[in-house]
Amino acid sequence: MISSNPFTPQSGWEPKIFGGRNPELEIFKSNLDDAANARPSHLVVLGEWGAGKTSLLKQFKRISQENAFPAAFCAISRFTEKNKALEAIHLIAEEMVLGFPKIDALQKGLLDLFAKRKSLSNAQVQFTKFLRELWKALDTKLAVVLLDDTQNLIEVSNTIDILRAVLSSDDIIKETRFLFILSSTPAGWAAFIDKHDPVGRFFRKRLNTENLKELEVMATIDMTLKGTGVVFDEMIRKNIFEYTGGHPYEVQLLASHLYDSQIEGNVKPQAWDSALNSTLKELGRDYFEYLLSKASDREKDLLKILAEEKKPVTIKDFTTMMIVGKRAKKFPIANIKNFLYRLEAKGLVKRSEGNGFYIPDPMFSEFIARFALE
Ligand SMILES: Nc1ncnc2c1ncn2[C@@H]1O[C@H](COP(=O)(O)OP(=O)(O)OP(=O)(O)O)[C@@H](O)[C@H]1O
Ligand SMILES: [Mg+2]
Repeated sequence: MISSNPFTPQSGWEPKIFGGRNPELEIFKSNLDDAANARPSHLVVLGEWGAGKTSLLKQFKRISQENAFPAAFCAISRFTEKNKALEAIHLIAEEMVLGFPKIDALQKGLLDLFAKRKSLSNAQVQFTKFLRELWKALDTKLAVVLLDDTQNLIEVSNTIDILRAVLSSDDIIKETRFLFILSSTPAGWAAFIDKHDPVGRFFRKRLNTENLKELEVMATIDMTLKGTGVVFDEMIRKNIFEYTGGHPYEVQLLASHLYDSQIEGNVKPQAWDSALNSTLKELGRDYFEYLLSKASDREKDLLKILAEEKKPVTIKDFTTMMIVGKRAKKFPIANIKNFLYRLEAKGLVKRSEGNGFYIPDPMFSEFIARFALE
């Protein structure tokens, strides 16, 4: 019998097998010890879309609880400029009340500490009171709070500054022991620091959810497949890493499509193309269409060349290609440099010293090569 698909291609779904991340887990564990025995140093986890922030935070929650420290996971929804920081702080408090075990009964009393009509300056006072009361109710040596997707607070960016002010106030430092772990996209975090520079100095420790390494991807896939009755051919396993570069979400999605194309439990090279195609279409809907829409038509012409070349291309090579050969076309050659720099600023291409420009995500590159219109 073949088991149902064990892969988890969904934002926020914890993988069946959590791969890699050993240094990050070690850092967290030692942070936890320091927080319990000395002083908490609050952490920020940075990562792009689908890089594994939520999953890492959930591992942190598990480790905290294993060590007898209660932990609350708080998913932060998107706020707009019509919202106030107090509303965001209130949401965080609500999520904390729901997230910590045994706090339910006290919930009402704790949240009554918030008078929503009050002005912004009160958010700080109210959150301080809340943390002190919550701390008493928790009755622990250390409590961990995981705030996922803080980039959603960007329109009420002073929320993070309020959090900083509260956590660095004397009362809170003396009377409580909370360890906060935030996650954010790098761009979101850069925007906070830009607007409120003490934030960057306060949340000093950063972890990045980079792509998984080749061996980590292989091990994750093999262990996820274990006991399912499905085996991936060697070429398929190699290709998964080559095409995804170890991007966690892409790995799960591609592996999930491959799994679904098993014949008698085997996934052979002939299954590759159609699974890749389905994966690219889904990634297009999820994200790549949006990414590509950031490029102008001229910029798309250049992206297409990069996608076909599959290696870095210099400005000089671009210019030559536009003049002679199969890609020669009417193109404002003098502006190639500007177009490329703009693509770089939009995060669509990267520049490698001396070698020119390239598309960092091989899957996005493949998407362009197959689906971007002429
Ligand atoms: N360490 C890991 N090992 C294996 N799979 C992982 C790992 N981390 C994340 N994944 C998988 O990758 C996908 C994305 O993970 P996750 O939702 O944690 O990322 P995220 O950075 O929070 O994404 P988003 O930008 O959508 O919030 C999920 O399908 C998850 O199961
Ligand atoms: Mg997430």
